[in-house]
Amino acid sequence: MTANEPHHQPIEQIGVIGLADGRRVNVRPSRPQDIDLLRAFFRALSDQARYFRFMTKLGELSPSMAQHFADIDHVRHVALLAYATNGGSQSVVGEVRYIVGTDEAGSAEFAVAVAGDWQGLGLARALLARLSGDAAAAGVRRLVADTLAGNAAMLGLARAAGFTVSENGVDRRLLRLVKELSPKAQRRRLQRFAVPAQAELQCSQGG
Ligand SMILES: CC(C)(COP(=O)(O)OP(=O)(O)OC[C@H]1O[C@@H](n2cnc3c(N)ncnc32)[C@H](O)[C@@H]1OP(=O)(O)O)[C@@H](O)C(=O)NCCC(=O)NCCS
Repeated sequence: MTANEPHHQPIEQIGVIGLADGRRVNVRPSRPQDIDLLRAFFRALSDQARYFRFMTKLGELSPSMAQHFADIDHVRHVALLAYATNGGSQSVVGEVRYIVGTDEAGSAEFAVAVAGDWQGLGLARALLARLSGDAAAAGVRRLVADTLAGNAAMLGLARAAGFTVSENGVDRRLLRLVKELSPKAQRRRLQRFAVPAQAELQCSQGG
């Protein structure tokens, strides 16, 4: 695939997630035109949330980072955006992504973030479940991430989502999150693709 060739948008990643407070958000793969939405999303996170997400002090995404985040190939770099619609305009309220690594065979590194007002409602759990299903279906065998040891929310989410948590081995500030993806998850995902579009919309929790 050349740099100028448009990437295939996987429509099977479009869906709806129902939240614990009864609200619903839409989910779709990231698109090249999402640069501004993504910059606004990360800018609006608290300083601490942004620090947890990027593990460095970052005021906002640079234009080149934003382009890297938005314009993905949907194969080695997969990203799902949860968005809310208000008066016809969209705002991103959650993002989850994985990037297939080059060092460890079958591994992909993931990250997730949810906007402050939308936290504690099951959105990250549902996004991660969807991403795990997509990864398994794409042949990824393991999702991994390093997180700061003080990031209680991410550690709680990881444990709730079935990740193992262990020492990073190199940096004592970090903990390593690992989840082996089973072929069973792959089969479930493929079955989910087979249901009619309307039924997919009712499958509100994803995964
Ligand atoms: C981590 C983060 C993505 C969680 O998002 P969220 O949508 O609020 O999480 P969910 O509501 O889906 O929670 C799922 C589970 O995670 C755990 N969890 C969530 N927030 C938690 C917290 N503050 N403390 C402890 N556990 C927590 C719980 O087990 C929860 O399940 P429960 O509600 O049934 O108890 C969010 O806090 C965030 O965006 N943080 C900043 C960015 C970041 O740290 N990213 C991770 C780096 S990769």
